[in-house]
Amino acid sequence: MSEQREPLLSVRDMRVDFGSRRKPFHAVKGVSFDIYPGETFGLVGESGSGKTTIGRAIIRIYETAGGEVIFKGQRINGKISKELDREVTRKIQMIFQDPMASLNERAKVDYIVAEGLYNTEKGISKEQRQEKVHQALMDVGLLPEFASRFPHEFSGGQRQRIGIARALIMQPEFIVADEPISALDVSIRAQVLNLLAELQKQRGLTYLFISHDLSVMRFICDRIAVIHKGLLMELADTETLFRHPLHPYTQALLSAVPMPSPDQRREGPPLIYDESVHDYRTDKPVWCEIEPGHFVRGNQKELAEYRGMLEKEA
Ligand SMILES: Nc1ncnc2c1ncn2[C@@H]1O[C@H](COP(=O)(O)OP(=O)(O)OP(=O)(O)O)[C@@H](O)[C@H]1O
Ligand SMILES: [Mg+2]
Repeated sequence: MSEQREPLLSVRDMRVDFGSRRKPFHAVKGVSFDIYPGETFGLVGESGSGKTTIGRAIIRIYETAGGEVIFKGQRINGKISKELDREVTRKIQMIFQDPMASLNERAKVDYIVAEGLYNTEKGISKEQRQEKVHQALMDVGLLPEFASRFPHEFSGGQRQRIGIARALIMQPEFIVADEPISALDVSIRAQVLNLLAELQKQRGLTYLFISHDLSVMRFICDRIAVIHKGLLMELADTETLFRHPLHPYTQALLSAVPMPSPDQRREGPPLIYDESVHDYRTDKPVWCEIEPGHFVRGNQKELAEYRGMLEKEA
């Protein structure tokens, strides 16, 4: 797809540990992917697989235990200069799952939306800041008057819009959207997705879209990476992933997704992923680009099988 272009963000062999140094828990065990300008890159996996941890490590909330995060050609994980830290804080924003929990209930919308500016644009006047807040609220389809209200006065969908305004006011280039619609009523999910898509088009935004819901991702993601227990299992453009899933874990995830077209529907209950099918005792797994833009984790024996599967499909 966009392989010739420079990635906006590259994650190389990212590792994130929790717990003590003596007895660490490896939440992210060496993950690599590139995200290109203007695309929506999906990260899908079960609860606890490490999706949020990756997002938080990218925006520097969590420290990495290894690997590199490269944003616009510069390493942004680990020790970086103050200037670069300020730039990253502005240009990479996050939208959270639960609008209620992520907004400070005692602060007015005004403050919530402007909060990032207090740290990065210390020089601006109160009026300028207010002007930016009003603009950000209008950009997400809310009234400027809402600035003087409190979050609890709004519906879930409106609160998520406030969360988006809070990110937009920073004029970001890259947004980590962590389950941005999962906590919302089904009836308003599409509106929030449409808003995100609209903003992306207008501003050339790039998204890392984190979700456990493949049927949503299918419609909005250009490419999708599948994560399981802190490791990527497969990565491909959305169409390829749905048509030719290679890894048994991807196949299991997909088997639970309702398919719109009859020829893609399968009979029977969802597949169960059985990790014991992998024999990695001597033949160790690697992360391999098995066809252009299509990556899968497997050992030499499995990769040979996957190549066979692709040849048969072709
Ligand atoms: N701050 C933390 N301290 C200790 N362990 C953590 C912390 N954050 C996450 N973990 C652990 O790391 C693993 C990955 O968690 P993470 O929140 O990234 O998963 P997730 O894929 O986002 O799941 P979900 O779909 O439920 O949001 C889990 O086992 C989790 O318990
Ligand atoms: Mg999460």
